[in-house]
Order: sequence, then C-alpha cells, then structure tokens
Amino acid sequence: MQDAFWWQRGIVYQVYPRSFQDSDGDGIGDLEGIRQRLDHLVWLGVDAVWISPIFVSPMADFGYDVADYCAIEPMFGSLEDFDRLVAEAHAKGLKVILDFVPNHTSEQHAWFRESRSSRDNPKRDWYIWRDPAPDGGPPNNWISNFGGSAWQRDEATGQYYYHAFLVQQPDLNWRNPQVRAAMYDVLRFWLDRGVDGFRVDVIWHLIKDVDFRDNPDNAGYQPSQPMIGRFQQTYSADRPEVHEVVRNMRAVLEDYDERVLIGEIYLPVERVVAYYGEGLSGAHLPFNFQLLETPWDARLLARMIERYEGLLPPGGWPNWVLGNHDRQRIAARVGEAQARVAAMLLLTLRGTPTVYYGDEIGMPDVAIPPERVQDPWGVNEPGLGLGRDPVRTPMQWAGDNFAGFSTVEPWLPLSDDWREKNVERLKEDRHSILSLYRNLISLRRAHRALSVGDYAAVARDGNVLAYERRFEGEHLLVILNLGHEKQLEDLSMFGDATILLSTHLDREGASGSSVVLRPSEGLLLRVDS
Ligand code: GLC
Ligand code: MG
Repeated sequence: MQDAFWWQRGIVYQVYPRSFQDSDGDGIGDLEGIRQRLDHLVWLGVDAVWISPIFVSPMADFGYDVADYCAIEPMFGSLEDFDRLVAEAHAKGLKVILDFVPNHTSEQHAWFRESRSSRDNPKRDWYIWRDPAPDGGPPNNWISNFGGSAWQRDEATGQYYYHAFLVQQPDLNWRNPQVRAAMYDVLRFWLDRGVDGFRVDVIWHLIKDVDFRDNPDNAGYQPSQPMIGRFQQTYSADRPEVHEVVRNMRAVLEDYDERVLIGEIYLPVERVVAYYGEGLSGAHLPFNFQLLETPWDARLLARMIERYEGLLPPGGWPNWVLGNHDRQRIAARVGEAQARVAAMLLLTLRGTPTVYYGDEIGMPDVAIPPERVQDPWGVNEPGLGLGRDPVRTPMQWAGDNFAGFSTVEPWLPLSDDWREKNVERLKEDRHSILSLYRNLISLRRAHRALSVGDYAAVARDGNVLAYERRFEGEHLLVILNLGHEKQLEDLSMFGDATILLSTHLDREGASGSSVVLRPSEGLLLRVDS
C-alpha cells in the first residue's frame, strides 16, 4: 500500500451546496460561499470535497433534477465561479468531486421536451415510453421511490413515461447508445475542467428489466413504510446489464489521471460489492451505507464490519459513510455522546471515510415547521417522517447573523442551538466534538496504520467494539464503548499500550496494561510491545 491513491488514503467531505454558505444574500448557499469556506476544510484536514448537484435545475428535487448537465445553476453561480472554486481548492490541496445524476433528467431538460413532443421525435427513445396497460392504466406495477406509480401518462402522445423518482424526473433510457455517448461526454466536460471525480447518483437504477416485468410482492410490507417497499425491486433496478454501463463510465475516467468513481448504491451488501465490477473494472468506491443502517450495537457492528471485509473483492478498497443528505444525522440517531464514538469509528476503520457537512459540529436533525417544509418526498408521502429537510439545514458557522450562513433568513431554519453549536465557538473548546474530528483526522493522516493499514477484529465483552490497525511496524488499537456502563479493558495481551486519543480528549499519553473505558468513550491506543 506504499502507493495508495489519494481517494484511498484520503477523507471525503460532503457539501450540500444550498446549505453550506450563502455569499449573495438570497438565503441559499452557493459556489462562492463554498470557496470562501475552503479554509474550514483545510483546517479540518479533509482531502476532498464532494458537492451535491450544482447544475441548472428547476429544483423539484433540489438539484437532483438536472435541466442542463454542462451549466451551473444561476442560483449557485456561474462556470467562472466554478472554475475559480476548483482552482482555489486545488491550490489548497483539496480535490473536488461532483455529483453526476445520470438516471434521470429534469422534465425541463431539452432532451425530454423533444422526447415528449411526438412519438417519432429522434429523442423519443432517449427516455422510457410505454403504451398503457389494456385497461388504460400504467404499463406495470412499478412504484416511484417518492410514492405513487412510477409511470406518468403524457396527454400529448397517450403514452406513459417512467420516473423512478418524481414525476418531474423522467428516467433516461440507458439502453440507448446515443444516451450513453451524450452522458459520457458530460463526464468529459467536467473532467476537462479539472474535477477529480464523481459521485454517481442512484447508479444501481440505470438499467431496467428489458421486458418491464411486474415487480414481485413484498410480503413483509407495512403501510407505515414508504410505498416503494410494497414490491421487491427485482425488475426495476440492479439489473445485470448495469455493470457494463458502470464499466464504461470508469473507462471514461481512466483516460485521465487518478480520478475517482463513487457509486450511490442502496442494496444488501453482497449486491453492493458487485459494483466494484469484474476485475475491479467498476466503481472505485461503491458507497457502503452500512453504518447508516446497522443498529448501534457493538456485536452487530462487529459482525457487519467482518462480513463487509470478507465480501470485498481482492484489491477492492472499502469505504464508510456516517451521514448524507438523505438520511438521519448521526447525532440525532445515536445521541451526542455516541456521535463522538461514531466519529472515532468512521475515522479509524479501514477504508475511505465520507464526512457529511455539519456532523463535525454534531448538528442535530432540525424540526421543520409544516409551513417551511421543502422536500417533495415528505410532501408526497406525508405523516411518515420521510422529509429530508431536517438533515439539510444551514451550516452553523458562528453565533450571529443567521449562524454566519447568510445575511437573510435561510431557505431552511437553523437549529435551536446554533448560538452555542457553531464552528467559531467549538473551535475554541479543545474538548468539543469539532476538536475531536480534527484530532482524529490529523491522527489518520499521521499514521499509515489508520489510513492504509490492515484491519483485524478484537473480541470484547459487553457493548464494546475493538479492532487493531497495523502497518509495517506500527500497531494501533481502537476500543469503543457503545454502552452507558464503564468497562474494564484488559490490554495485557498487547503488552503496554499508550492512549493517542480519547473521545473525551482528556487523557492522551497515559499508558498501561489495562484501562477503564468510561461510558460512551472511545480510545485510540498505540501498542508499544
Ligand atoms: C439520490 C439522492 C437523493 C435524490 C435521489 C433522486 O438518492 O441522494 O437526494 O432525491 O437520488 O435523484
Ligand atoms: Mg446564495
């Protein structure tokens, strides 16, 4: 591992651009705002910034509905702003990763306007059009991920088009070679402008069943669950032919130096690892969301990590995600004390970590008053708590001026505790979660055992998760107390050990052959024998 790639050694930081920093006083974050805040990322010590979509969009799904893949949404800035951001990020040693949304466009994309205009338009087959079922209803039983049928009847031509997400997000037909060529050109457009890689939105959705067969029933479905769960997604996603498309995308990147392909994949882990592709010809990093989904229990997490490590293909590089713009924030899920333990877990596991903006200051899920709800998912399927606004609220930078985010009321409300929980304040507190993140990141950079070393589980009792990381002569140990009881840990099997970091940030340097872990304490230790 001497020559690990930057995306293996490094740490990715996700920015949700609407909520990072507003520079022009419209209450919505923008590219110039991100540029102004690059020093935060440098100070924190991360390596790459992944920016959620910034392309021209009517914002039905807040940028995940793209109307022009090769232009910047004016609300976010201009191409010049983008070039400036990339140049400055690079000058500061940061990589820039864009969000590529190939499964669907906006209904306002020029391609779709043409496609829907008539049955014999040359772009008709760029999208997925089907005749109605014999009763005039939708062509099959597929459900949209945001609720309701995934088929929308279009009056002009009497056919239905398929949308895996919103009605305003028609799916492209990735079986059409012209679509592929056009989309690979989009990748080149941004690669030529210097971007260091892509996070590919819903990559497992790109190819659908060639016969559009009905999805099978899901016996365990409860009406309290999102409607998409009514059927198994057997035919609507994760089709075998998708891997050829992923391989082609990867091949586009291979013409450039050290660019990274990250795939968003919500599937059981044995299906996720298939996206590394045959002979590692697929995604460099098929996103591993198991930390978002595994109950916060040491035994279950240990088993999950072991299983993931075991399923990785030879040479496949692992990765870990603790939060994103679609899922509950970690501090909301496990509480403030355990959020610190989770930070140590994320940043000491083997594999590239992705940090979601704001998690470094322990941002909570923010309750959104009904009149301020924005996310269409929450609107389409009300009452199930599906809205994603709570995890997309403005970054809390300072104790005044709308948390330093904007000069006006932001597009989503700030958390109640922003006057205390903000970067400026937590930076000054050497015991804060922000200080913990920074220390963890700096240790990960300093110790190759953490960034590129081997991983081995260590069996422990109680609600304690432990593992070793080793690289050449370096031997580190991580012990995490996921419980609320203290735990006496016998370290004599390792000889002597010295604490490099406690999640409480108060006993670095202590050493011995046993240690008492306090409730919700994690320790990173150096084994001295
Ligand atoms: C991905 C995005 C999500 C978006 C959906 C449709 O899951 O992360 O935010 O709504 O795709 O593009
Ligand atoms: Mg703005």
